[in-house]
Amino acid sequence: MNLLIINGPNLNLLGTREKSIYGELSFEEYFMQLKKMFPNVEFEYYQSNIEGEIIDKLQQRGFSVDGIILNAGAYTHTSIAIADAIRSIPAHVIETHISNVHKREEYRHHSMIASACKGVIAGFGLDSYRLAIQSFILPC
Ligand code: DQA
Repeated sequence: MNLLIINGPNLNLLGTREKSIYGELSFEEYFMQLKKMFPNVEFEYYQSNIEGEIIDKLQQRGFSVDGIILNAGAYTHTSIAIADAIRSIPAHVIETHISNVHKREEYRHHSMIASACKGVIAGFGLDSYRLAIQSFILPC
């Protein structure tokens, strides 16, 4: 199985950014743990702060990977274009968030992309990514 993890804006700063919300680990450190947890999964990782680059990646890989774990960061709350890209590809996408966006500012409560995704996982810290991966391995 091959899975693509896409992180959107500011998630390159995990480990230094707002540690009380997002924790102390960089994504690169966590990614090494993930690869050990799922030795049979072939992972690709992509991060971009640019909306159009995230759309390009969804279009480029969304016809060949088995699934996509997408943390679109703040674009979650604004991007019709990312939602359209998700609807344009056959790969299932899981919207994933480190924080529980529903416990935070009201502008984070709405997702523009959730209705285009297979499911949403939020609020489990970095473990949200593991849970999203797990959902592809044991589909219900
Ligand atoms: C986030 C939540 C978003 O509201 C925020 O803009 C982020 C990170 C999360 O993983 O909790 O950048 O997607």
